[in-house]
Amino acid sequence: MQTIAITINKGGVGKTTLTKSLATAATAAGFNVVMLDMDTQQNAESWSKRRASQQGKPLPLARFTTEADLADELAKAKRAGCDLAFIDTPPGRSSEALAAVEAADVVLIPFWNDQDAYEGVLRTSSMLRRMGKRGFGILNFATPNSRSHEDTARAVLETIGLPMAPVVLHRYDAHRLASIKGLTAQENEPDGVAATEVELLWDWLAAILQMGTGATVHKKGEVA
Ligand SMILES: Nc1ncnc2c1ncn2[C@@H]1O[C@H](COP(=O)(O)OP(=O)(O)OP(=O)(O)O)[C@@H](O)[C@H]1O
Ligand SMILES: [Mg+2]
Repeated sequence: MQTIAITINKGGVGKTTLTKSLATAATAAGFNVVMLDMDTQQNAESWSKRRASQQGKPLPLARFTTEADLADELAKAKRAGCDLAFIDTPPGRSSEALAAVEAADVVLIPFWNDQDAYEGVLRTSSMLRRMGKRGFGILNFATPNSRSHEDTARAVLETIGLPMAPVVLHRYDAHRLASIKGLTAQENEPDGVAATEVELLWDWLAAILQMGTGATVHKKGEVA
């Protein structure tokens, strides 16, 4: 099982949205996925409950998890045959974020094109470096049909020394509207640009994790 922590020392930049979107994409690709919600706001777990009650689509499941329970929850997920665990973390510096990074194979740092967010990226990437963890910046909320946010973000992250994912998520209401229904953009508006961006981001992450992107590939892997 591989563990992905989603964290940044900054609130509201899309941690929970990224967690839900990638966990759902991985589930749709045929992987067994668990989402661990370490934020006491419990946004991911609430989304999971909306999902189960409104859509009859419970997977992927999100469970609220404290720092004290994290190791046990990960061990339980591994025993249950999970391929991937995604951990959503609270905003700001917290013992939960530290524990999530400690447990992670890969850390994703969502941010947007804003000075405060860049300071958050710097703080979080310094923490990763101290802990010897592999991480990537994910630009979110970029202005659609414009390259200016991406160009600035790539220049700033190069200065910080944090690799940035090749796929950028732009600002689309599809994310917010899907969340109300316990869905993700790729489920609620599968033909939309937001959905395509998430799919491309998942393809990139699957390659980083050296996992096949499709259920067929996964099944082949199980047989082998
Ligand atoms: N690319 C996007 N385009 C439009 N809206 C987005 C996008 N990403 C996230 N949002 C919306 O922005 C809001 C904040 O996102 P989200 O809850 O994922 O951030 P967060 O980092 O988890 O916040 P917190 O720090 O409070 O946990 C939500 O309403 C979400 O639907
Ligand atoms: Mg959140």
